Amino acid sequence: MKTLRLNSKNKNDLITAADILRNGGLVAIPTETVYGLAANALDGEAVKEIFIAKGRPNDNPLIVHVASLEEIAPLVEEVDPRLYDLAEKYWPGPLTVILKKSDAIPDEVSAGLDTVAIRMPSHPDAREIIRLSGKPLAAPSANASGRPSPTSVDHVITDLDGRIDAVIDGGICSVGVESTVVTLATTPPTLLRPGGITVEQLEAVLGKISVSPAVLEQLKEGEKAESPGMKYKHYAPKARVTIVKGNFESYKKFLLAQKHSACAVCFDGEGKYFENYIEYGAENDGASQAHGLFEALRKVDESGCETAFVRCPIIDGVGLAVYNRLIRSAAFRVIDLDISIPVIGLTGQTGAGKSTVALLLEENGIYNIDTDLLARKAVENPEVIASLADYFGNDIIVDGVLDRRELARRAFSDPVKQKKLNATVHPEVTRLAVEEIHNAEKSGAKAVLIDAALLFESDLTSICSFTVTVVADKEIRLERIMRRDSISKDDALIRMNAQKDEKYYTENADIVIQNNGENINDEIKKIIGKL
Ligand code: TXA
Ligand code: MG
Repeated sequence: MKTLRLNSKNKNDLITAADILRNGGLVAIPTETVYGLAANALDGEAVKEIFIAKGRPNDNPLIVHVASLEEIAPLVEEVDPRLYDLAEKYWPGPLTVILKKSDAIPDEVSAGLDTVAIRMPSHPDAREIIRLSGKPLAAPSANASGRPSPTSVDHVITDLDGRIDAVIDGGICSVGVESTVVTLATTPPTLLRPGGITVEQLEAVLGKISVSPAVLEQLKEGEKAESPGMKYKHYAPKARVTIVKGNFESYKKFLLAQKHSACAVCFDGEGKYFENYIEYGAENDGASQAHGLFEALRKVDESGCETAFVRCPIIDGVGLAVYNRLIRSAAFRVIDLDISIPVIGLTGQTGAGKSTVALLLEENGIYNIDTDLLARKAVENPEVIASLADYFGNDIIVDGVLDRRELARRAFSDPVKQKKLNATVHPEVTRLAVEEIHNAEKSGAKAVLIDAALLFESDLTSICSFTVTVVADKEIRLERIMRRDSISKDDALIRMNAQKDEKYYTENADIVIQNNGENINDEIKKIIGKL
């Protein structure tokens, strides 16, 4: 199918679009929130085509768009008087209201529910097309299902060219995130999806409303989504997105210490510090972040980065909508860098006595994080497993469990593959480490220790307040290793020579601890003094 390109500045193009819609076709239209993929809402067959073009799950209902209040009565069982109150204040605009539906609404639109979602958009082109077609229009966002919603005609074309009859260019969408969805079919009314109209604005008309748990949290296994759309993975670029809470200084330090190609998705004016960056709006300005969000998420993929770290919006007002979309694009991954206790990174060559130092620090009340355990936990994460299986082959999973030995065999034979393995596992280890730091913080620890042989090769330095390396004379290390592991001198030397030299460790560390067996307590004081 050839997708017709229409322009809203041309009156004939609007008439063409309305004709296509009346004849059961699909047209992508601009609205003030995002572009919508429209069909005649009263024509079940036409509506079916929307689901096919988008690849949308059939159980996810659509919003019906109208241009005037008079169009609503035939679509609903009863016009709730509160609808008029809401309409007076916020329509036309980025608000969708759910009411009990009438029989005029085909099952395809309501996906089998007994309710219907109605919205009166404010975009002049959307209004004109509804008026010219003379029909209410069912229109989900005009993206391929799962992708970020489209805020420009180019986004629509990228996702749906050749799959729909026409697209109308009406410029960039001003709001940038989809409408607020509130249902009047519950008591009290419930916010199902945050958007351009805020909770405060709704409550000014409706009184206290409840907020669906799905707005901010991941639904638990088997939990029912009041709004089916909220249960699907959404807005997700191919890159692994993580939200980063905390101030800009800690974000900057965190990003600059990343070892893998990471994209900084940050606020206006912050990008200059990073090699790969996308700015998505002004800090403390939810409306401007909403406007730039989906374009930014699409650009993440164009950047080619494997990971993206997004500055966290303020979760309030329109920012609630921004956060709601981001948390889904991040598969609910959040790193909170607002850490109030010192984090010590500890490393050293084999036999230098790193574990002895760790033990002494623990005796001083410092909480020790076991990074080997975190690395094992990281590869138990279903998403990490899926991503590894994607790259290394499904047969590295045996009975749902990762065959770590086979994975290692495949990865370590090839530097490119090893890099891929690290880029998948390291960020998850870092995320888990931060989670554990917060737990330690809560349990009253005065500092945290991250003990890692490959500290400087990992991203863990990005969360350390300072780093410590333990060194010892070569002969002493040799003897320690032979004794500790009951191995021959030659085998011990092989292990020692496989590691980087002492200079590498001392140059990268903030504090160097001599551990030849004497004065170790004095050396420990160097660390304690820095806390
Ligand atoms: O801003 C918008 O709302 C855009 C533009 C095009 O108007 N449309 C849009 O539609 O975002 P869509 O289909 O991408 O999202 C509609 C959301 C979904 O989460 C869906 O599950 C929910 O509204 N929804 C629709 N009808 C519903 C109903 N009867 N009950 C509960 N949720 C409903
Ligand atoms: Mg959508």
